[in-house]
This record gives sequence, C-alpha cells and structure tokens, in this order.
Amino acid sequence: MRAAAARAASTTHRILLPLFLFAALCESDPDLLLDYCVADTAAAASLHLNGLPCIDPARARAEHFATSALSRATNPSSATPFGFNATVTSPAASLPGANAQGLAMARVDLAPGGVAPPHSHPRASEVALVLAGSVLVGFADTSYRLYTQLLRAGEAFVFPRGMVHFMYNVDVAAPAVVLSGLNSQSPGAQLVPLSAFLTEPRMPEEILEKAFKINGQDVHRIQRNLGG
Ligand SMILES: *[C@@H]1O[C@H](CO)[C@@H](O)[C@H](O)[C@H]1NC(C)=O
Repeated sequence: MRAAAARAASTTHRILLPLFLFAALCESDPDLLLDYCVADTAAAASLHLNGLPCIDPARARAEHFATSALSRATNPSSATPFGFNATVTSPAASLPGANAQGLAMARVDLAPGGVAPPHSHPRASEVALVLAGSVLVGFADTSYRLYTQLLRAGEAFVFPRGMVHFMYNVDVAAPAVVLSGLNSQSPGAQLVPLSAFLTEPRMPEEILEKAFKINGQDVHRIQRNLGG
C-alpha cells in the first residue's frame, strides 16, 4: 500500500517537476507600470525598478498601509462633462504601503444620471462594488459581445483586464458611489471619447470622419461638447 503511494507520488513528481520548470522558463515579462518605457540607451549602469524605490523596512509604520483618500465624496458634476469623478489610490500620493503589491483601489462618484463613459484599464482587471445607488455596468469583449448588469448597493461586477467598460447611474435623482479594486498599482485608464476626440494634438479630422461616418461639423461639435 505504502509502496504504491510512494510510486504514485514519484510519478506525480516526475510529471509535475518538468512542467513546473517549463512554466518557470516560459514566464512572461513583468508587467509595465507605465504606458511605455523608452530605453535609455546612453545610461551605462542604471537603476532597475518595478514601481517606486522602497524605504528602509525598519522605518515602515502602520500609516503607510492606510489611506483616507477614498473617504471623501467628490463633485462629479463639475469634475467631468460626463458626471463622474474617480479617485484612485497610488503609492506615490496616497498609499505608499501598496507599492509593488500589484493593487489599487478606486472610488467612483456618479452624479444623478452620470456615466463613467466607455474606458479601459490597460494594466488591471477590476472588481466594482456599488456602495450606494443603482448602477448599470457593462463591458464589451474582443468579439464585441456586450455583458451588462444592473447593480444595487452591495452588489459587485468584474471588468476583465483591458476590456472596454462603463458605469451608469440610472437614478436621475440620487448620486451613486462605486468602490473598485484593481490588480495593478498603476492600472491606467483610457476613456474612449477622449482617445478618439480629445487627444493632443488632435487626431486628423479625416480619420474621425471615416471612423465614425460623420462629417467635419460633427467632429467639431463632439469636441466642443467634450470641453475641447
Ligand atoms: C475629482 O477627484 C479628484 C481625485 O480625488 C480630486 O482631486 C478632484 O478635486 C475631484 N474633483 C471634484 C470637482 O470634486
């Protein structure tokens, strides 16, 4: 009995060990914490970092791992033309203890009828929990299938990494608050309307006309409406 178990264990070992080594060798590159990282070809011996440099661990205090950045309501109506505002924790500004932990949190304030317009986080999956209000959330996958759900307070939804998604406060009388967890300390965000219509410098008008099947006047109207 014991011999059979030992044989089974050693077989498992023989199969798993090469698999494990193979997986370790094939590990992908570490994730970028920036949109890009142009190589400094002139630097002879540079410092190699992923995230921010660390303080002496002996100087760490509990406060480094705590933040009140998400406790304050912001004013979503005046923050953006969409009626939303997002506060994201960052190791540099509000949560040093999260450095190199691969996570961030975000508070999204939505005005009555406000929307966090279609956007994506290139470096993070997100799980969004509605703290207050009724929020219609959704994302589109790469085959353009749309997944939507109406969330009430206490309910949560996952936006897979990089997928274009939105949050919409369907209540036209009351604000909504969403709290999100993201699995990067630098999730990044690209809002679709801004990536198309409000880049600096502007995308050539012909591109926008052809991409959206609109004319030059439409392009300018949209840019004005977005505050550009
Ligand atoms: C929007 O949120 C940011 C981050 O918390 C904050 O700095 C800004 O003051 C807010 N804007 C308004 C209008 O509340």
